[in-house]
Amino acid sequence: MSMKNKTSDLRQRMSEALKGGGDKAILKQKATGKMTARERILALLDPKSFHEYDLFVKHAGRDFDMDKKYLPGDGVITGTGTINGHPVCIYAQDFTVAGGSLGYMHAKKITKIMDHAMKLKIPIIGINDSGGARIQEGVNSLAGYGEIFFRNTQASGVIPQISVILGPCAGGAVYSPALTDFVFVVDKISKMFITGPQVIKTVLGEEISMEELGGARTHAEITGNAHFFAQSEEECFSQIKSLFTYIPWNNKKTAESFPKKPPKTRQYKLDNIFPTDPRMPYDVKDVIRALSDDSEFLEVQEYFAPNIVVGFSRLNGNTVGYVANQPLVLAGVLDVDSSDKAARFIRFCNAFNIPLITLVDLPGYLPGIDQEHAGVIRHGAKVLYAYSEATVPKITVITRKAYGGGYIAMCSHHLRADFVFAWPTAEIAVMGPEGAANIIFKNDIKNADNPEKVRQEKIEEYKQKFANPYVAAAYGYVDAVIEPEETRNMLIHSLDISASKSVERPDKKHGIPPF
Ligand code: HXC
Repeated sequence: MSMKNKTSDLRQRMSEALKGGGDKAILKQKATGKMTARERILALLDPKSFHEYDLFVKHAGRDFDMDKKYLPGDGVITGTGTINGHPVCIYAQDFTVAGGSLGYMHAKKITKIMDHAMKLKIPIIGINDSGGARIQEGVNSLAGYGEIFFRNTQASGVIPQISVILGPCAGGAVYSPALTDFVFVVDKISKMFITGPQVIKTVLGEEISMEELGGARTHAEITGNAHFFAQSEEECFSQIKSLFTYIPWNNKKTAESFPKKPPKTRQYKLDNIFPTDPRMPYDVKDVIRALSDDSEFLEVQEYFAPNIVVGFSRLNGNTVGYVANQPLVLAGVLDVDSSDKAARFIRFCNAFNIPLITLVDLPGYLPGIDQEHAGVIRHGAKVLYAYSEATVPKITVITRKAYGGGYIAMCSHHLRADFVFAWPTAEIAVMGPEGAANIIFKNDIKNADNPEKVRQEKIEEYKQKFANPYVAAAYGYVDAVIEPEETRNMLIHSLDISASKSVERPDKKHGIPPF
């Protein structure tokens, strides 16, 4: 065959493979409001940057007449490309081909591109849309998942791993996303669960819809499995692109620097955001925006455990990670879910060289039987562990309450913050004045002619003594008491002088965090 004929043969083969599951299956995919796998890749990556590999891979199924079936690309598209000019490896399961089910060669394609990502030290993105283990291939499908999980674990903390759930992701298949750094879901499209509604009904007699059990909202708000929630696939892709502006390619690099921009101080002015009444809540996201370049803030897990706010912004062009108590929700307490959320985010930032800024305003850990029995000790300890182990620059600003365990946990000097600043409004104490006065002046209050008057006097006495930043400053636990308007400059200066920070931790195989 001549070169010309061979080229046309190649084109013919490619055009067959590029049809995926064929017109009928593609129409069905579109009818459910979903893009095809290839459309998704092209929409997410920079134009013309996608290069596909293993298009001609053949599936390995031999039983149940599978050997007679042609499954283009074996139901998964893999390749490399760029996002905002940065290289990434990517795979997208093609539901139009055997329901995107994972057989031996499908898994091989995924693990091969994961291996590439690790070798090239660039992020890996997985778009999940699959009926799970390919039933006809039996144990080879399970082996495939196991190989993916192992690689997810090896890659953890080395390259960013992104999972995008754009269809079903059921059974053990959910554990690959669960092992990755950020999970993106889309309303009405994403479905994640270990056992579906049918099985739950049969085994437990409980009835629940697929959407309620494992839909996007459920994972964004209740389970915390998802980190980003979008209304459409397009919005989801723009969230991913935005995330990539904040994170580095791998754990040996830092995130890209952008031109410095001042905050939008007309819109976000600390004086207007912060209430004069210390009992009034305020939105800590506005405080973050008031401090950040161009007042931009990319929140992570926005709808889960909203009593803590975590996410990325920039200071003088460089990425920082914020961990901030949210006084608007449960007074910003630490509880089981907010501890998990904060600890995981801190560990991501630490692994990928992103300095941490902690904004403190909380009454402590949430009391209650529910919390105690849900393991607030075990979960709360994760925050202590994550901050203590983190070696990136760590800067803490105490804006108002820093009581009890909350003071210690929110990146105090004792957990090796590099700088702790406090606003004049800060109250650093073992507990709030009301609770403290009721305990230590119990007898004075009880025996007084006018107990309520004495209670108020004692509360005031306690406030005068402890509800301020100066006792902590007197011991050097606070490095400087600063005016709120100075905060951005102090943060920028602290980060600038921390650029070459280097600390050693004890030599060990790994720690044993309270997982
Ligand atoms: C083989 C599968 C498949 C699977 C779907 N298909 N799932 N083929 N193995 N796991 C095929 C269907 O036969 C069908 O082929 C095509 O994909 C589209 O599927 P439909 O059922 O027509 O689509 P839909 O109505 O949208 O339903 C989607 C679905 C359903 C909800 C995902 O297909 C489903 O329940 N699938 C099985 C899910 C499951 O139980 N998977 C195994 C989980 S166990 P045709 O040829 O008709 O187009 C598991 C263990 C992993 O994953 C453990 C790892 C540790």
